Amino acid sequence: MSLDAIPKMVVHMARRFFSKHPVATPVDLTGKKIIVTGAAVGSIGYLTAKTFASWGATVVVSTRSNTQTVVDALNSDISDIGSAGKVFGYPLDLSRVDSVTQFVSSYRKEHGEILDVLVNNAGIHLDLLSEWKQPKLTEDQYEIHWRTNYLGGFQLTQELIPFLKNSGKETGDARVVNVVSHLHTKGINSAFGEEKPEYNSWQAYGQSKLALVHHAFEIERKYGKQGVHAYAVHPGSVYSNIAHKGLDGHKLLQAVRNSLGFIEKRLLLTTEQGAQTQIYCAVDHQAQPGKYYQRCQVKDPSAETQDEQVAANLWKATTEWHKKVSKVADISKKSNGQHKGIKTNGESHCIF
Ligand SMILES: NC(=O)c1ccc[n+]([C@@H]2O[C@H](COP(=O)([O-])OP(=O)(O)OC[C@H]3O[C@@H](n4cnc5c(N)ncnc54)[C@H](OP(=O)(O)O)[C@@H]3O)[C@@H](O)[C@H]2O)c1
Repeated sequence: MSLDAIPKMVVHMARRFFSKHPVATPVDLTGKKIIVTGAAVGSIGYLTAKTFASWGATVVVSTRSNTQTVVDALNSDISDIGSAGKVFGYPLDLSRVDSVTQFVSSYRKEHGEILDVLVNNAGIHLDLLSEWKQPKLTEDQYEIHWRTNYLGGFQLTQELIPFLKNSGKETGDARVVNVVSHLHTKGINSAFGEEKPEYNSWQAYGQSKLALVHHAFEIERKYGKQGVHAYAVHPGSVYSNIAHKGLDGHKLLQAVRNSLGFIEKRLLLTTEQGAQTQIYCAVDHQAQPGKYYQRCQVKDPSAETQDEQVAANLWKATTEWHKKVSKVADISKKSNGQHKGIKTNGESHCIF
């Protein structure tokens, strides 16, 4: 931990032990359709989905595998409280173009072309010990945090925007909630579209989250008048599965962490506490669109997020990327009749 992180840590501890954590006020969600990505048991997404369903919404969740197990667990949790809400789920791997398209197609088949809220919650933060000297690349040769957290989230949102607009036309209040992180402050605008000479996984994670803040603000600018609003949310430091995955390959450390988990749990927020801000932004009428939220309150994001030109350029470049990969996916599907990972660029780990 660097020295400049100490004041933040002190504030976190003071809040954790001496202040009451904010709780989103229940809203009747009967008739609403909400997608929450990344809702594995033990994650912030799980608690988010459970809350929406317990307030009456139809909730569609995703995980990469064992999706039905998560759906069953959620439906069993909410059946106890007699809610009218219901949970559905489909597998989704944000790092694969075909998987995102398949998820959207499954949603359309079962729930139609209308969506009230999309919570882009799924995300990864790997290599917590900063050991990687080179980035880990996805099948299509992108840096893994960038590909999963940003490009995958962008593709999903883009393909669901028509459904959100349909809801926005009726209600004026369809929403996209991007779950980001205070670590977006590690991202810098000048690094978009460039390869860094030295790799650092925390910087890569921060860069992907900075892009997601720009994404949320740009959605608000582009679609706000059409009734589709967007928010960027930091959930707090939460005890979930994220750190376990971030320590992948360190069996001893993971075992120590598991056995001392009770200490970490005391220091960090629970997933229920961590879910409150994204729940608030997804459904509370007082939430202000186009803002960055923490602890159910508007907070200042980094100065980098205020550059609208960068956001517009990023949007344009990512839209072009999306068009290109969708076309390749389409050709590949037509030519051999099956979905495959799309290799767009075999030689580098560039951002686009
Ligand atoms: N926990 C924190 O302290 C903290 C702090 C700031 C921000 N956040 C953000 O909060 C969000 C939720 O994190 P969490 O703490 O709940 O983490 P988590 O417990 O690890 O849950 C992450 C979820 O994302 C899914 N996911 C991972 N890779 C994916 C991929 N390639 N495609 C689709 N889904 C994928 C996981 O699915 P599988 O089950 O298939 O792995 C899981 O359901 C993330 O965006 C994270 O960056 C967390």
